[in-house]
Amino acid sequence: GGILFRHTPKPRAQRSTPMKWITQNIIHLLNPESAHEVAKKLQYMLPLPLIGKKCHFESDRLKTFIAQTSLSNPIGLAGGFDKNAELLPLLDNLGFGFLELGSVTAEPCVGQPKPRLFRLKKDQALINRMGLPNHGADEISEHLKNLRPTPKTPWGINISKTPDFAKKQKRTAVEDYLYSLEKFYPLAEYICLNLSCPNTKDKGTFESPAVFKTLAEPVHDFLKSRVDRKPILIKLSPALDESSLKQTIEIALKNGIDGFIVSNTTLNRNNLKTTKQDLKKMGAGGLSGAPLLDAANKQLELAHKITEGKSILVGVGGVMNFKGLLQKLIYGAQLVQVYTGFVYNGPFFMHGLAKDLDAFCKKHGLKHYSEITGQTDLLTSI
Ligand code: FNR
Repeated sequence: GGILFRHTPKPRAQRSTPMKWITQNIIHLLNPESAHEVAKKLQYMLPLPLIGKKCHFESDRLKTFIAQTSLSNPIGLAGGFDKNAELLPLLDNLGFGFLELGSVTAEPCVGQPKPRLFRLKKDQALINRMGLPNHGADEISEHLKNLRPTPKTPWGINISKTPDFAKKQKRTAVEDYLYSLEKFYPLAEYICLNLSCPNTKDKGTFESPAVFKTLAEPVHDFLKSRVDRKPILIKLSPALDESSLKQTIEIALKNGIDGFIVSNTTLNRNNLKTTKQDLKKMGAGGLSGAPLLDAANKQLELAHKITEGKSILVGVGGVMNFKGLLQKLIYGAQLVQVYTGFVYNGPFFMHGLAKDLDAFCKKHGLKHYSEITGQTDLLTSI
């Protein structure tokens, strides 16, 4: 390269990589749900150990914990990608520090009619109204018990309430959550109670503080009866206003809940490049990806302020590159999850993020990534 090409290279996860090109131009020729089915079938034909070797990234600066479980890095897969735990052979080899499986519901659920998942390429976003399709707690818990070989990546289970349209049994909403909690508690490193699924058409979610209390108290009783204490996190929406967020967090902490996943998708459609006409054709659903970043970060910052850094905070929403990851860590996340960024960047995304985070720590003289929390001045450095 001559002098013309002498420039500071962008962090790896921000560059256009061949795999990103292949992902967006070849894999994305399939409709989003078929892409998933293909991955499910193809995973056994892939050279998984080789992929695992390429995607794994090892550095003491990135090693962390969730409760007693050690994680190789803080980058996890967000809930909803592998609802039935069917992609574990592949996901176990993509360099994730942890995986969140589910959402699972007490009873099986077919979800909403298709199409229910849309790509907004110009916005690097997705809209989904899946409606929690999954095989149900009985089948999925049996499947997890029988997994061979045992995946190496630690996982948590995300539990949602069975949507009313799928309910056959007469469990109350609270019993529904508790049924899954009891089933999955022994089978995961942590449990996430998803209070905020926007896609079931049920009246209200469990986020309104008064309703949440009716769930938090029985969960507390359940936890008191256990000797093996595992983290229970709750997943919140970006739409809660500051006062409801504060009340919800206070109720959670009073009832032994250990942390918060911030945040779920948004119903907001502001500032999108996709035309109004196209948006109308897609219809209702939760928006994820790049346009969610600011709202999710704002909610994360608030949660960090309210919890004073004393709870586990998992940042999720709009991490499409290293800058997004850095923002989450600055605003108080100990762990970060990705979904849409993985869909758009492809299987080497997590490795790129981990590598960039490690290089960033090194450059700024940080011994561990956790030192990034609160250092807003670092934002201007990339
Ligand atoms: C989701 N998400 C989700 N969350 C959850 O708690 N349970 C679920 O079942 C699902 N399902 C789901 C399906 C699809 C197709 C998408 C795109 C998302 C939300 C997800 O975990 C995450 O909170 C948001 O997608 C925001 O993160 P990203 O995608 O911007 O990284």
